[in-house]
Amino acid sequence: MTAIAPAIRVDGIEKSFKDLAVLRGVSFDVAPGSVFALLGANGAGKTTLVRILATLSRADAGSAQVAGLDIRTQAPGIRDSVSLTGQFAAVDEVLTGRENLVLVAKLRHITDPRGVADRLLHRFSISDAADRRAGTYSGGMRRRLDIAMSLIGDPPVIFLDEPTTGLDPHARQEVWGIVEELASGGTTVLLTTQYLDEAERLADRIAILGDGTIIAEGTLDELKSRFPPAKVEYVEKQPSLEDIFLAITGKQMAPAPGAEKGEADR
Ligand SMILES: Nc1ncnc2c1ncn2[C@@H]1O[C@H](COP(=O)(O)OP(=O)(O)O)[C@@H](O)[C@H]1O
Ligand SMILES: [Mg+2]
Repeated sequence: MTAIAPAIRVDGIEKSFKDLAVLRGVSFDVAPGSVFALLGANGAGKTTLVRILATLSRADAGSAQVAGLDIRTQAPGIRDSVSLTGQFAAVDEVLTGRENLVLVAKLRHITDPRGVADRLLHRFSISDAADRRAGTYSGGMRRRLDIAMSLIGDPPVIFLDEPTTGLDPHARQEVWGIVEELASGGTTVLLTTQYLDEAERLADRIAILGDGTIIAEGTLDELKSRFPPAKVEYVEKQPSLEDIFLAITGKQMAPAPGAEKGEADR
């Protein structure tokens, strides 16, 4: 079997802010076309790491490659081939959804920016609201628009930094559907989250960031077998709370395409 080069390789990344050592040697690989969840509490250093990988911030030590490019020496190439969607949406509230998309398409020198915008509006179910100011959108719509904007130019690697933080369960389900669709289309997704159920639902592999290092990494089954029962119980309980919420609010959505994924078939 020939080894496939990882889409993201992180090797011994360290980062401090003054005397606060946030990352103390973080290492992991992400296989192409997979969804990798970086799970960590608030302040664990998830955004710090994602910003380093997107070349928006510089590591103090260690190395990393994204889409085969080195973060230190090939930053412009990485900026062309990855996209980062932050917890705080890059959406311009004064512009309409369509205008936001056209603007990004023009910035990325896409031919036919209007056509690209139309297709994304349709794909992300924003067509009806396309000509309304984004400031009037719900949290879920705004997040969908933000992710749509980040997909312009078809980046092979996408970073989603806490894509569902602040969203209600209904909107979370929508974002989850989008991530599953991206993964089934072959995009490599590095997702950060504070939510166990989100990692469980979406990720092929999960890494837990704590005390500045990866304290556990593997598939969900591997992690379950390695952790004490109490932790496993928490992992399994959290989605059912959401199920109950969805049942009583009547906002249960149809399962997203590929939602009933098996571990082996992705
Ligand atoms: N630019 C910065 N200057 C100083 N401290 C920072 C900066 N960015 C992040 N931090 C600190 O680094 C730690 C990790 O932050 P962050 O990466 O945002 O965590 P997470 O995204 O996991 O919530 C926090 O203690 C935060 O206050
Ligand atoms: Mg963060």
